[in-house]
Amino acid sequence: MLIAGNWKMFKGPAEAEAFAVELRGRLEGVSGVDVAVCPPYTSLAAVVQALDRSEIAVYAQNVHWAGDGAYTGEVSPAMLLELGVTGSIVGHSERRQLFGESDEMVARRARTALEAGFGVIACVGETLEQRESGDTELVLKIQVEAISFAAGAHERLVIAYEPVWAIGTGKTATPEMAEEAHAFIKGLLDRPVLYGGSVKPENAAELMSQTSVDGALVGGASLDPDSFAAICRAASTS
Ligand code: PGA
Repeated sequence: MLIAGNWKMFKGPAEAEAFAVELRGRLEGVSGVDVAVCPPYTSLAAVVQALDRSEIAVYAQNVHWAGDGAYTGEVSPAMLLELGVTGSIVGHSERRQLFGESDEMVARRARTALEAGFGVIACVGETLEQRESGDTELVLKIQVEAISFAAGAHERLVIAYEPVWAIGTGKTATPEMAEEAHAFIKGLLDRPVLYGGSVKPENAAELMSQTSVDGALVGGASLDPDSFAAICRAASTS
């Protein structure tokens, strides 16, 4: 089980540090679940420091494929490793939809981050329109195969199934819908699959109890230490 908190563009260094200190206390004694937080770039150093010698991993929200170069606005795996960051999300639907990231870019990011020793959470998921027109499996197949072609079933690779219509909308996939999509993804690539999309303390236990759900990528509910810790606890007992 892995629970990762995607903070998106929230929490500057001071707020992030205070949150990390609080979360650390709340997760003491919680076992059987790996936990990662994904702060914005400028808060990474503060969070790494606040979580020093704790079990909570610090991941970035995106990472470039080159070691260095003329790539304005991008950050390389080596730069993040130097800070003490040990992994990254890639291919979040907000990156794909708002910033035009293609399957090929996502796959390149995943491959080089894994080669650099990073843990990678690679996101896939269909839009509402695609689900309603019966294209969910086709979309997942294209997205997962791009990642698997580039990175294979790498041992540090985790997939996150995040139906786009469930992200930040309060609409969660039913446990059955999640199970069906996760089982389909695992049939394409034999790696753990996290569920993401409006995960909250109230629905976490039921989602986590599905056979093919191996954890969660949490957005909104990861910004509050109480609700994020409650989701981690739900995962530790399911
Ligand atoms: P949400 O976001 O939990 O706020 O729906 C999930 C995500 O975007 O990773």
